[in-house]
Amino acid sequence: MVDRGWFVTLEAVDGAGKSTQIPRIEAWVRALGREVVVTREPGGTELAEKLRSMALSMPMDGLTEAMLMFAARRDHIKRVIEPALARGAVVVCDRFTDSSFAYQGWGRGFPVEQLQTLEEWVQEGLQPDLTLWFDLEANEAARRRQSAREADRFEQEQVAFFERVIEGYRSRMQASNGRMVRVDASADKEGVWDQVKDVLDASFGQLGCV
Ligand code: TYD
Repeated sequence: MVDRGWFVTLEAVDGAGKSTQIPRIEAWVRALGREVVVTREPGGTELAEKLRSMALSMPMDGLTEAMLMFAARRDHIKRVIEPALARGAVVVCDRFTDSSFAYQGWGRGFPVEQLQTLEEWVQEGLQPDLTLWFDLEANEAARRRQSAREADRFEQEQVAFFERVIEGYRSRMQASNGRMVRVDASADKEGVWDQVKDVLDASFGQLGCV
């Protein structure tokens, strides 16, 4: 068992089905006898949830949007993520900074160097131990979104926007030194879970957690 906790993040274009896998991941970690904290971004604290509802509904320029995401992240890190990791919990976070690079950077075209500066200020070196990237082709994600609830400001974007977001995730994965692992989200729910379980087994096994 490690003393420090373990920080797992989940990433995908909207509609890829990552939310379906979260309760399964939670149960898998709990079965190891570890405390698990499931949370999300933007959000995860009272303040960050307020920032989320603004960011997802109100028109704003790229810098405002990026700063809201990172302001929400700062509060979330300080109040939830760092304390949980410090007491040895496993934190499972639905989206984190890879979303900012993929959506604000590649998707909106906001300068990546400025995102890197915000990342350094806000995270002070904190990075996920493992990131599962649920990769799904943009047209298929759009088809799946059609059957979901009302679209927020991001979900209303065109397929070309999500193609850029996917390109951003691919680029982040290639530069991630193994932190980011691709899951083929075109499979059915069980097929996706089989892949997720294999990745969890391998990552937690390396740490001596399983
Ligand atoms: P999402 O996590 O998909 O929640 P839900 O399943 O309830 O729709 O929605 C959050 C949206 O916020 C998503 O479209 C991506 C966007 N986002 C960013 O643009 N930048 C960020 O840094 C984060 C964390 C999210």
